[in-house]
Amino acid sequence: MSDFLENYTLVGEKLGIITYPSPVLSKKAVPVDLFDDSLVQLIKNMLFTMYHAPGIGLAAPQVNHSKRFFVIDTEYSREEIVDSDGDKTFKLGDFKPQIFINPKFLEKDGTIVHEEGCLSLPGYYEEVTRAEHIVLEYQDIHGKKHIKKASGLEAICIQHEYDHLEGIVFIDHISLIKKNLIRKKLTKEKKSK
Ligand code: NI
Repeated sequence: MSDFLENYTLVGEKLGIITYPSPVLSKKAVPVDLFDDSLVQLIKNMLFTMYHAPGIGLAAPQVNHSKRFFVIDTEYSREEIVDSDGDKTFKLGDFKPQIFINPKFLEKDGTIVHEEGCLSLPGYYEEVTRAEHIVLEYQDIHGKKHIKKASGLEAICIQHEYDHLEGIVFIDHISLIKKNLIRKKLTKEKKSK
């Protein structure tokens, strides 16, 4: 197991999240071949960014690195705290970060429909049909191969993040009419910024 995953603490740098439609989000990412310190640092920062967003998954292309890896955590806790002035903050805990480098699906089975969102498409939620159970082969931050079996939300999250490596966003799974509407709105929002 990787050292920093064992006792993950929330330290890192907040990275900018690329929003749709940006070219990097529709590009097929390239495999990771160098398992060095800069990869570890980038992953730490991605986790930090994901937890603070907050989100349950973040893929490298979303932070402008067109590389085949993503991070997820479908189990951490997020508690809202209101101080005496009425200001809201969040207490994050029980981190169970997982990192998947150069992932490949070995099996997909069943179907499950779930409403998905994406940090690259803020404010949009759509129902997407995915496989309910998956088996994934991947490498850890040392380049060592592992097998991951997942079901339900964890499987959904892995498939959503994997799509980012293929240049696919979740609205690519919905009707073209709906997708074009969302695309137009987001492009407009970007221009008015
Ligand atoms: Ni996403």
